[in-house]
Amino acid sequence: MGVSILAIIYIIAAVTFIMGLKMMSNPASARKGNMIAGVGMVAAILGTIFLYRNPDGGLLQNHIWIFAAIAVGTIIGVMAAKKVKMTAMPEMVSLFNGLGGASATLISVIEFNHLADQGFPVEASSAGTMAIIFAGVILGNITFSGSIVAWGKLSGKFKDFAFKGQHIINLLLLGASIALAVFITSDLQSDTTTMLFYVVFMLSLVYGIFFVLPIGGADMPVVISLLNSLSGLSAACSGFLYDNKVVFTGGILVGAAGTILTVLMCKAMNRSLVNVLIGSFGGGGKSAAADGEQGQYKEISLNDAAVVMSYANKVLIVPGYGLAVAQAQHTCHELEKLLEVKGVQVKYAIHPVAGRMPGHMNVLLAEADVSYDKLLEMEEANDEFPTTDVVLILGANDVVNPAAKTDPGSPIYGMPILDVELAKNVIVNKRSMKPGYAGIENGLFYRPKTSMLFGDAKKVLQDLCGEIKSL
Ligand code: TAP
Repeated sequence: MGVSILAIIYIIAAVTFIMGLKMMSNPASARKGNMIAGVGMVAAILGTIFLYRNPDGGLLQNHIWIFAAIAVGTIIGVMAAKKVKMTAMPEMVSLFNGLGGASATLISVIEFNHLADQGFPVEASSAGTMAIIFAGVILGNITFSGSIVAWGKLSGKFKDFAFKGQHIINLLLLGASIALAVFITSDLQSDTTTMLFYVVFMLSLVYGIFFVLPIGGADMPVVISLLNSLSGLSAACSGFLYDNKVVFTGGILVGAAGTILTVLMCKAMNRSLVNVLIGSFGGGGKSAAADGEQGQYKEISLNDAAVVMSYANKVLIVPGYGLAVAQAQHTCHELEKLLEVKGVQVKYAIHPVAGRMPGHMNVLLAEADVSYDKLLEMEEANDEFPTTDVVLILGANDVVNPAAKTDPGSPIYGMPILDVELAKNVIVNKRSMKPGYAGIENGLFYRPKTSMLFGDAKKVLQDLCGEIKSL
């Protein structure tokens, strides 16, 4: 009876995951979707704790250990989620991906040792089971070490590191892990089986490090979503091992969603997935400013910026990472409303990798109650720039860098960008002439149509609002 109720709980939980994911594809329903999937997950966990039966028919007994671990994890998770700044979300996502991978690895290691202790009984050590154990170790370890390196790079603790022949070594490491896994499975009774298992363990751990270390600058979004997808696939291996349908379904959903996100990110960065898989693409190297234009930029005063925008027909705002750092989204919304009162049409141009996580700008602007229909995706925005009077760039840099189109030596060459220069005037707000995430100069700032409005985004927007009110 308990088992059938548990099966029903698992089905309901799987349905809530799918509903939640679907709802997360729209900013209006995303919060509710997250909540629904969370409730499904809680039901699945409680159902497993109280209704799951061991192969001998008994219920789980170690409730104190289970609830102690849940309490520790919950406290750390809630505190981390409350404390984390929106701009540091990618680091946190990387850590969570890494922990997911580590859990999958540990489950595979436990199951391997379990079988090893029993002398690898034929009925429990089929090639299929061993393949899942090794997939869990290899995928889990790549996710774990790769995510820790990604976390270190995103938080500025690790630098990009690449050496000659790294691609070959990466391929050798991955190939050796897989070949050794196949070899071990073919002769489980060998004296060296356990030792070789840990060689696979180490090789995959090192591959994860080498895979992410050389990837730099603007290309990290692709890697983060790929690691997210791998964390789902490694979790699916654990679900398969324990014949736990809800872990399996959850893992596959994360794997599939992460893969879709990876493809979208590749498209946004104009990179091929093969480049990502061999860890060979763009470093964060410096590139010359496009067309060697640096040196001559002009500034605009707050008053002039307020006048130009107030008398425009259409203003497009380009939000970027700096807007998120300054937490200026509410003031930005206020500026939008003030301009609209003056009859100006205001919209936002959202680049898919603006900020530091997928959908960062959408989340940020939703927080300030900016209407969703004002948010233009990159292609729509590029169609609108030619009929735009003023583009106001708020703390964005790489996503409007023309080097992506004009400088084949640039690490972001080929990445689609917002064609802000098609508008009549471009006003750029940032604090200095320093480069953005990719670490490269931006020739846009030196172009004739561009004027710089220096200062912290929040302060500048507050002052702009004041100026517009007084016009
Ligand atoms: P960035 O190129 O990083 O530029 C942000 C700019 O904001 C900087 O040049 C900085 O210049 C300015 N800034 C910082 N604090 C500010 C403040 N308080 N007020 C005003 N300006 C401020 O940002 P972007 O254009 O949004 O591009 C995103 C980059 O991050 C891309 O290279 C992307 O590949 C990468 N990335 C994206 C993701 C995802 S998924 N979105 C994940 C990881 C990495 P100053 O210092 O001069 O002020």
